[in-house]
Amino acid sequence: MYKQLAEIYQRPEVFSVYTAETLWTEPHLANQMLQFHLNQENVLASRPIEAIDRMVDWINQSFGLKGKSICDLGCGPGLYTSRYAKHGAIVHGIDFSSNSINYAQKNRSIDATPITYRVANYLTDALPTQQDLVTLIYCDLCPLSPIQRQTLLTKIRQTLSPHGRFIFDAFSIDAFESVSEGVCFGRNHMNGFWSARDYFAFQITFKYDSEAVSLDHFTVIEEDRTWHVYNWLQYFSPDSIRLELEQAGFGTIEFTEGFGVDPSDVATFGVVAGV
Ligand SMILES: C[S@@+](CC[C@H](N)C(=O)[O-])C[C@H]1O[C@@H](n2cnc3c(N)ncnc32)[C@H](O)[C@@H]1O
Repeated sequence: MYKQLAEIYQRPEVFSVYTAETLWTEPHLANQMLQFHLNQENVLASRPIEAIDRMVDWINQSFGLKGKSICDLGCGPGLYTSRYAKHGAIVHGIDFSSNSINYAQKNRSIDATPITYRVANYLTDALPTQQDLVTLIYCDLCPLSPIQRQTLLTKIRQTLSPHGRFIFDAFSIDAFESVSEGVCFGRNHMNGFWSARDYFAFQITFKYDSEAVSLDHFTVIEEDRTWHVYNWLQYFSPDSIRLELEQAGFGTIEFTEGFGVDPSDVATFGVVAGV
């Protein structure tokens, strides 16, 4: 027991394990995540609909979606893609959760342009080419390691047409400063989120000050198995994100105050990058 607890409390090397696929695609978790996407009271997986509407309006006013090709990476259940299509864009939606993609496909609107949905991993699978716009929304660059970020940013640059734009958001250093290290433990922790069966779970939050990274390490203990999910988050300053974009070959980089989302929200900021 002592040895097991010592392992659970051990601080892992920064970005040493990647478990995002389990978090989003394990069948029970994928269902929980879909409910989070759709539930207006819960902002863990998607922003509230009001904020999504404001963000899509901002993108439409800034870039004119009608007739533009746009690829939404990590599209989830299609909360953005469906709105892009209503504005007349030619839309690709990519996500590795088949559960979310199925929901998005079933809930297409008939008065919108068609949307091409694909179950794929944007880190390893091919992306569509010659896109006018690529979006990666709700800080989805932040769970990735520096190497994964360079891989993805380079792929996105290659996906864009010569005048294309990559639109995304990221967690700020202000958000990092509000994170505290700590431990939570409980039976069926997070109201049964982690399993449909009875379980105990530890959630240990670590901060890595010199890297501006946080980790929520979840250890889930069921009757016959113990498993782990590592939720890493990289927090950025405008300078640190600029450096990574430049390394991946982006030339124009502009920062926005949250794409029409509440400007008093200092936890995230928006970026528009072009080749
Ligand atoms: C925080 S959610 C945001 C979803 C959507 N952008 C929104 O704001 O409603 C992250 C989404 O990215 C997907 N995702 C994470 N990593 C991925 C990867 N490597 N390849 C494809 N999809 C991924 C997840 O399945 C999930 O739907």
